[in-house]
Amino acid sequence: MIEIRNLTKIYTVGDQRILALDNVSLTVKKGEIFGIIGLSGAGKSTLIRCVNMLERPTHGTIFVDGQEITALSEEELRVARQKIGMIFQHFNLLSSRTVFNNIMFPLEIARVPKKEARQRVQSLLEMVGLTDKADVYPAQLSGGQKQRVGIARALANRPSLLLSDEATSALDPQTTRSILELLRDINRRLGLTILLITHDMNVIKEVCDRVAVIDNSRIVEIGDVLEVFSNPQTPTARSFIGTVINREIPVELLHRPNGDSGGKTTRLVRVSFIGASAGEPIISSMIRQYDIEANILYGNIDRVKDTPFGNLALELIGSPDMIDSGLTYLRNRGLEIEVLRSD
Ligand SMILES: Nc1ncnc2c1ncn2[C@@H]1O[C@H](COP(=O)(O)OP(=O)(O)O)[C@@H](O)[C@H]1O
Ligand SMILES: [Mg+2]
Repeated sequence: MIEIRNLTKIYTVGDQRILALDNVSLTVKKGEIFGIIGLSGAGKSTLIRCVNMLERPTHGTIFVDGQEITALSEEELRVARQKIGMIFQHFNLLSSRTVFNNIMFPLEIARVPKKEARQRVQSLLEMVGLTDKADVYPAQLSGGQKQRVGIARALANRPSLLLSDEATSALDPQTTRSILELLRDINRRLGLTILLITHDMNVIKEVCDRVAVIDNSRIVEIGDVLEVFSNPQTPTARSFIGTVINREIPVELLHRPNGDSGGKTTRLVRVSFIGASAGEPIISSMIRQYDIEANILYGNIDRVKDTPFGNLALELIGSPDMIDSGLTYLRNRGLEIEVLRSD
């Protein structure tokens, strides 16, 4: 759906060169919700603005729906952009037009016949739940309602791709959730591909299928949301995930003195699990099969969309052989094991 190859963007301000994107490559599949997360200044807006060519890349190519968007003339771009909707943090509505006429605006530009255009606006108003607000002006709407108008307007020309630049960043958590639900719903019902950027890991957790982490103009990590949440590979990803899920084992547990273990070994391990195994009694089966005692010191379970995942800190006490066998048993059942402390 979107294929970005070796995208570099350098801004020139006076005699200063700012490297905003450094050799970024990325593929977004048709019908998925793909999130890009990064700190302020990381290059997110630059990346999304290159996808609809509001910014011209310095190097690299971008394909959208099979069309090389970076090779189009201005005239061809105008047509191609009608198939790419965009929503913004500050909504960018026209204050002098009613809700109805804001949604009508892109249809006027695309010269859609009046009657058809009016019908489309009506059904879009229905889809975003604002039928009763057709004739009011943006100033009379709440933030969440304004973004619903923004979404309806972005969908007016029936795009195959929706770009979202921090669309929920100006909204409170509850409104954010309702806007994200609307995006999910649109994604499912229309098969619309959504590329969204955010600095908020909750947004990624709530709606995205895959995520890329951008740090300092580069993509440092990319994967299924569940995979990245349960097993982040980079410090940047870990710190974002730490804002929504606590993966850290309290430090006093790591340094807990061992009691009298009667010649046995004590090992502190982190057991991470995803999906079905979260509901199965794997730990108790291990204890029954091997001569091991297990203290659960710490744990948490969370959900990403409908899949549970979590991690437990376990202190295992037994002979080294037994503990090794027990850990192999757990690994063979799909659990991820990390030894945090061992005597
Ligand atoms: N139009 C511009 N001219 C010059 N520098 C820019 C421009 N837009 C963005 N930048 C710079 O490029 C870098 C990335 O910015 P941006 O893509 O807006 O990041 P983000 O959206 O992740 O906050 C920043 O250092 C920013 O100051
Ligand atoms: Mg930005």
